[in-house]
Amino acid sequence: MIQPVNYSTLPTDLHPKALPNHVAVIMDGNGRWATQRGMPRIAGHRQGAKTVKDLLRCCKDWGIGALTVYAFSTENWRRPMEEVTFLLRLFDRLLRRELAEMQREGVRIQFLGDLSPLPERLQDLMQEAMTVTHANQRVQFNVAVNYGGRQELVAATRHIAQQVACGALSLEQVDEESLSRALLTYPLPDPDLLIRTSGEQRLSNFLPWQLAYTELYFTDLLWPEFDRAAFHQALQWYQRRQRRFGGLAPTPLAQGS
Ligand code: IPE
Ligand code: IPE
Ligand code: MG
Repeated sequence: MIQPVNYSTLPTDLHPKALPNHVAVIMDGNGRWATQRGMPRIAGHRQGAKTVKDLLRCCKDWGIGALTVYAFSTENWRRPMEEVTFLLRLFDRLLRRELAEMQREGVRIQFLGDLSPLPERLQDLMQEAMTVTHANQRVQFNVAVNYGGRQELVAATRHIAQQVACGALSLEQVDEESLSRALLTYPLPDPDLLIRTSGEQRLSNFLPWQLAYTELYFTDLLWPEFDRAAFHQALQWYQRRQRRFGGLAPTPLAQGS
């Protein structure tokens, strides 16, 4: 008889040393998941929230240090007002409900994006969550809200230009390191693996600088369907990659040291 896989600990075919340190996720397909079931789109977002909660716990259980999820893009304001309002309320509700547990489990939460257009109450809550969990070390959880990669690069460029203008930085000191330092993800290493669900194969303005050398994994599953078994498959796929970074290293990750 085939034993069902126990997903509470790292599946035995995954090599702890060849796991990604940082996983980024474009959580796509909530709306289609709901529509397929004859439900309103917001029901998909509600279900999607459960998926992300379990993925975070899974990263913690399996020893993956950082998870960055795309929750709301700068372009998502183009959606009907009711959907945008629902999403912002959902973030508010989730944060209130989950903060104590995240704190208990050693999650450090950070929000990436321009939070200033969000409702003040939500901004305060986000700020509080970041402050309260600041010293936690078990898993870093980045939530991109009102995030746009091009906007992030423009802001970083402005910051650097300002430093050069006031003499804090010379033109020669402007390099990859100084630019990375001006990004919202600093000092986190770049994602090793990007997962996008729902069959779309584009970045939709997500982390354009940070994903320059990331392994890209696309699955047709809709976000609310992306469970631990699906994550297991994505990690199996990742461990078969040969990350060469322009060199010639021929060993798949799983066989590396
Ligand atoms: C992703 O699901 C969640 C957000 C963008 C907030 P979608 O809402 O984009 O779902 P689809 O792509 O319309 O199915
Ligand atoms: C990307 O999904 C943004 C998030 C997952 C938050 P979208 O559904 O907004 O992306 P497009 O519009 O299909 O590119
Ligand atoms: Mg979508």
